[in-house]
This record gives sequence, structure tokens and C-alpha cells, in this order.
Amino acid sequence: MLFDALATPALNLKNRMVMSPLTRSRAVERNCPNALMVEYYRQRASAGLIITEGTSPSINGLGYANIPGICNDEQEKGWQAVVSAVHEAGGKMVMQLMHTGRVTHVANLPSGGEVMGPMAEACPGEIFTLSQGLKPHTAPRAMSAADIEQVVKEFTEAAQRAIRAGFDGVELHAANGYLIEQFLNPNVNGRTDGYGGSISGRNRLALDIARSVVAAIGANKVGIRLSPCGVFNSTGGFAEVEPQYLALVRELSALGLLYIHVLDHSAMGAPAVPETLKRELKQQFKGLFILAGGFDRDTAETALTEKKADLIAFGRSFLANPDLVQRFKLGAPLNVPDMETFYTSDAKGYTDYPSLP
Ligand SMILES: Cc1cc2nc3c(=O)[nH]c(=O)nc-3n(C[C@H](O)[C@H](O)[C@H](O)COP(=O)(O)O)c2cc1C
Repeated sequence: MLFDALATPALNLKNRMVMSPLTRSRAVERNCPNALMVEYYRQRASAGLIITEGTSPSINGLGYANIPGICNDEQEKGWQAVVSAVHEAGGKMVMQLMHTGRVTHVANLPSGGEVMGPMAEACPGEIFTLSQGLKPHTAPRAMSAADIEQVVKEFTEAAQRAIRAGFDGVELHAANGYLIEQFLNPNVNGRTDGYGGSISGRNRLALDIARSVVAAIGANKVGIRLSPCGVFNSTGGFAEVEPQYLALVRELSALGLLYIHVLDHSAMGAPAVPETLKRELKQQFKGLFILAGGFDRDTAETALTEKKADLIAFGRSFLANPDLVQRFKLGAPLNVPDMETFYTSDAKGYTDYPSLP
């Protein structure tokens, strides 16, 4: 099944293997995609679908050093070169829109950028900055109603830029403790203004953004990534997680979204997303259902056969194996990912993983 094509009215995929979004910090000049990034993604075009690394729709969301943006013409042009190389090589590609919110230090933001979040409370822990090494996260400004309106606009304009650049769609990053999940999670969001305080309040920003992006580019070009039960970036579990995510997914389904992409980081030490919750989320959603986290060829095949998902996303294995599809087909050994070069700035550990001869 993994190698079977999947045709939808919106997108024809040549296999069921998705390349997970992977931040690689190679956008070293003005957060712009460059020739090295063109080569990296082109090498991986045999995936059924590539999801880009987290890409910021706002100068306030460029929270890590050297991550790419999609907030100006130069960045849009850089992405155009990436996506056309992937299309020429026969691949499909969506852009992950990631706003880091409170997960940053102000030194990582371009001039004029501001750290914002649901509350004026710093994310615990430290973050790497190019100029000062490891630093505690900067305390954010609690977003006002006008800031929320602005961020919805930024996501919407970024999605329009992505489509103009040639992408097949966008993925809203509502996982891993970044801005959208900061609003979803009551351990981070204690707002009392209608954007917090209840299931519908906490889901509201995600839905405002989804509705606006859908209106701008069409529902069949919009996916979303969710990590219920995630702990990354000091989010953590909460009592209403199941009814909240089910309510969210029901509304996303009514909007007609292309896919939801559910992440279970238990293979990386996080609590598992209960199987029952994954099943219910899939049942509540009428579009495509992607599962991610810790899959190999056999577990992916089983998940597809058991109809637990329509597509399976692979992160570290695609990072280290540009020809992962071919290796899985042949049962060939895999290159091992080198953690030391995940976030460095050059070709080493990026475009030099070998393909099979
Ligand atoms: C180097 C690295 C960078 C990542 N960057 C992102 C990212 O930008 N956006 C995102 O949603 N997840 C990101 N993730 C999480 C992966 O998409 C994926 O969910 C995770 O690696 C688990 O899948 P795997 O077991 O197949 O690797 C990253 C993971 C790694 C290892």
C-alpha cells in the first residue's frame, strides 16, 4: 500500500510516503531559501508529498536562527525555485506555516520583530541564538485583539504567497508548542477574552486562521498538523485534551480541509497519543488523515493496511535517505541520521547523504 498512488480531486500523489516537516536552519541569508535548499528538496522528490520545514508567515515568527520565512518577495522567489525543482522532478510539495510565538529569543528575530504569545509569560528553558549562544526565551507580549487580527492576516497572506510561488498547498503548524498550539493548550493559554478559558475559546485562533486561509486559497489546499498529548516547548497534557481536539477536528472537517496530520512523538520520549483518540480523530474528519512519528516501512505498511491512516509521514529517515522510497521498495539498509548536523549551516549532513548507486 505504501507505494500505491493516491488520487484526490485536489492532489494526485504517486505514493503514500510523506516527508515530514524538518527544520534544517540553512536559510542563512535574510531567512531566504537558497540553492542548497533547492538541491536538498529536489533530492527527496520521490516522496509522494514533501512538507517543507517550518516557514514563518511573520517576522515575529522567525524564532530560530536561519529558518526560512515567507513574508516578503525575496523569500517568495527563493521558495519558487525550490518548489519548481521538486515539481520538475515529479514531486508534490506543501509549505508548513510555522509561527514560533513565545518560543524564541528576540536576538533571533529580524529588526522590528517582536516576541508575542497568548500570555506575557516566558517559555521555560533556553534557546540557541547566533549572536549570544544559549539564552533564556524572551518573555512575550500578550497578544491584543489587534495582534490576533494581524497574525490571521499574516498566515493568510503567507498562504497566498505560497500558492503564488507554486506550492500545492499549505500546512498550518498547530503542533509542537508553537503559536497556534500555545493558544490550544491551557497550560500556556490563560486568556479570558474569548481566545481562551474553554474548549471553544482555545480552539478559536486555530479556526480563525484556518477559515481565513481557506477563504483565500481554497480548502483543498489546506492541511493542519496537530500534536495532542505533546510536551515539546513546555506545553504538556491537560484534562480536556480529547474533547477539545475532537471538537477542533469536527470544525476543520466542516471547513473541508485537505488533511489533518497527527503527530505522536512517543518514539522521541513524549507521552503516546492513545490509539482510541487517533481513531476517533480520523472518524471525525472527512479529508485525508496523515500519521507521523517513529514509523519504519513495516509499521507504516501495517497502519495503512489497518486503515489507521491514508498517508504516513517520515522525518529522520527522509532526512538521512534522499531515496527513502527506493530503499523501502528494495528493503535496502538506511543511512543513519547525524544529529550533529541537523541544524548546521552547510552541505555536510544536508545534501551529502548518499543515494543507492
Ligand atoms: C531535525 C528535526 C527538525 C524538525 N523540524 C520540524 C518542523 O519544522 N516542523 C514540524 O512540524 N516538526 C518538525 N520536526 C518533527 C518531525 O516532523 C517528526 O514529527 C519527528 O521527527 C518524528 O518523526 P520520525 O520519527 O519519522 O522522525 C523536526 C524533527 C527533527 C528531527
